[in-house]
Amino acid sequence: MFAFAVGDSLVALDAVKIDTTDQARILRGGQHFQQTCLSCHSLVDFVNDPVAKELGLSKEQMPVWPEDSWNGHPPPDLSLIALSMSPDWLFTYLRTYYVDKARPTGYNNLVYPNTNMPNPFVDMQGHQVLINPNYFDKNHAHGEQFWYRVIKLKETGRLSPAEFDDYVDDIVQFLTYVSDPSVHARRQIGPWVLGYLTLFIMVTYAYFRLVGKDYFQSPKSPPPH
Ligand code: HEC
Repeated sequence: MFAFAVGDSLVALDAVKIDTTDQARILRGGQHFQQTCLSCHSLVDFVNDPVAKELGLSKEQMPVWPEDSWNGHPPPDLSLIALSMSPDWLFTYLRTYYVDKARPTGYNNLVYPNTNMPNPFVDMQGHQVLINPNYFDKNHAHGEQFWYRVIKLKETGRLSPAEFDDYVDDIVQFLTYVSDPSVHARRQIGPWVLGYLTLFIMVTYAYFRLVGKDYFQSPKSPPPH
């Protein structure tokens, strides 16, 4: 059961352009996932995919958490997260952590308020803080503001803001592919189907050229009397 809904976001979601044909980018996102997410999150439905094989992802590497670990909020499997939430949600969620001393992890999030997930990007992104510390004292409508009107980067990490956006974008491309890898299989099968049909038509045509000649020609008209 989810303790939140998409509508819980305090800010509008950024749009992310998904391209599941960009193999290089998907692989890069997979490598980022291995570096930054796999210590906590599994992708159990994904292990038999060619991309998973290329990344060297195996079930043995994937964490399994008891229900009662993490105060009852263990990191969920993310195989279908891009479908159950959305790429836009993921892209905005992962970029809207901000410092909040009141939270046990030291960070809060604008898209998933009070998330139990520690900010995985502190060294890469740096720290974001509320522009107006009294923001939550006022009554703000959910999901109408843009996040960059609510939080700002106070201290840059080892990636520039543009590099960090790209890094997260790669992960979102990867997770979107993971949630529907057959997109790729369908594209690979396409040319074979067309090839088969072409061959079928050629063989049929040749056959009729050989056999059909007699078949289609009207019987020789009787010689005139
Ligand atoms: C240190 C462990 C840890 C790391 C590393 C981590 N997460 Fe999480 N993540 C969690 C926990 C714990 C939750 C559950 C949060 C909750 O229920 O409040 C969570 C929740 C999530 C959710 C919400 C999904 C849902 O259905 O609740 C997403 C999406 C997510 N993580 C993505 C990622 C991505 C992508 C990365 C890598 C960039 C990552 N996480 C790295 C611990 C982690």
